[in-house]
Amino acid sequence: HLNPQMEEGAPALRPAACRAKGGAPGFKVAILGAAGGIGQPLSLLMKMNPLVSVLHLYDVVNTPGVTADVSHMDTSAVVRGFLGAQQLDAALTGMDLVIIPAGLPRKPGMTRDDLFNKNAGIVRTLCEGVARCCPDAIVNLISNPVNSTVPIAAEVFKKAGTYNPKRLLGVTTLDVVRANTFVAEVLGVDPRDVSVPVVGGHAGVTILPLLSQVNPPSSFTQEEIKYLTNRIQNGGTEVVEAKAGAGSATLSMAFAAAKFGDACLRAMRGEAGIIECSYVASEVTELPFFATKVRLGRGGAEEILPLGPLNDFERVGLEAAKKELNESIQKGIAFMKK
Ligand code: NAD
Ligand code: LMR
Repeated sequence: HLNPQMEEGAPALRPAACRAKGGAPGFKVAILGAAGGIGQPLSLLMKMNPLVSVLHLYDVVNTPGVTADVSHMDTSAVVRGFLGAQQLDAALTGMDLVIIPAGLPRKPGMTRDDLFNKNAGIVRTLCEGVARCCPDAIVNLISNPVNSTVPIAAEVFKKAGTYNPKRLLGVTTLDVVRANTFVAEVLGVDPRDVSVPVVGGHAGVTILPLLSQVNPPSSFTQEEIKYLTNRIQNGGTEVVEAKAGAGSATLSMAFAAAKFGDACLRAMRGEAGIIECSYVASEVTELPFFATKVRLGRGGAEEILPLGPLNDFERVGLEAAKKELNESIQKGIAFMKK
């Protein structure tokens, strides 16, 4: 049974309204692809988040086990599992935040774009569910290739008449997490004290770390800039190769998604001044989608922040990023126009 607390013979549960400590309002969060490499640790981390009152775990396989397992954690979120396409609507109804890590991961030698044929359809189906059942939810989209899946999701929502660009957020937090880690290593400081803006998109040269805007202000040699930019742009491939066919980043990605999801929930609760990088509909460049810092609020990405001053190296990088990004965006839009 997916929800053991509803087994026959189990006593009726008492009202759950007061489960969250201090009566703080909690949010309803769904994870689609919850039984996967990212989905499982992300389910664990969201079950630990005190802002989550209800956690729905959806996948096409293995959700009963993951749900039973995670539901035994003595944190306040109520966990429910959903298995297969016929339960997608039940998983999504009433949700405030939907996190989507469903889809195939890379193997060595593949680009993220090589995942397009499989993952485009998965993202379309899941977003059609969001449009039907929780059109006001904020969506955190993780499935690759993010540069194309976010435009696909936007087209699905436009078609359904539910599109609000503020509520559709492509998750690029792992690029920021990696950038903070690698820059901190070079500087010899604690990564928690470092903040690196990473703009553009989420694949190869479209991942553009702005080392001239690192906080606290830091200067780097040319050699360090080349090393750091290359390592940040290829962080995903570094993990894919190390895993040697067993998948791509899952643990660091779950950490990054939980960090970004928590930022969204805090902003939805009304906390001010929450700035994160995300791949969103944007007018910062001539492209319809671009990752920059955004200010999160109750309605999602309330404000898209400008790129800020770039140095010559970053300006060259920006042109390369825009070229590839444009192709990926057009590919996503064309998929939906077919
Ligand atoms: P995985 O194969 O371990 O898990 C994917 C899960 O999705 C599986 O449990 C599978 O059953 C499920 N799934 C497949 N079709 C589905 C459907 N129609 N509905 C619901 N669930 C479905 O893969 P993973 O390592 O967890 O990676 C998932 C995706 O995230 C990949 O596309 C990967 O490239 C991407 N990713 C993105 C980032 C990022 O920074 N945005 C980082 C890492 C991975
Ligand atoms: C990552 O950056 O780790 C993910 O996009 C997964 C991948 O394929 O590299």
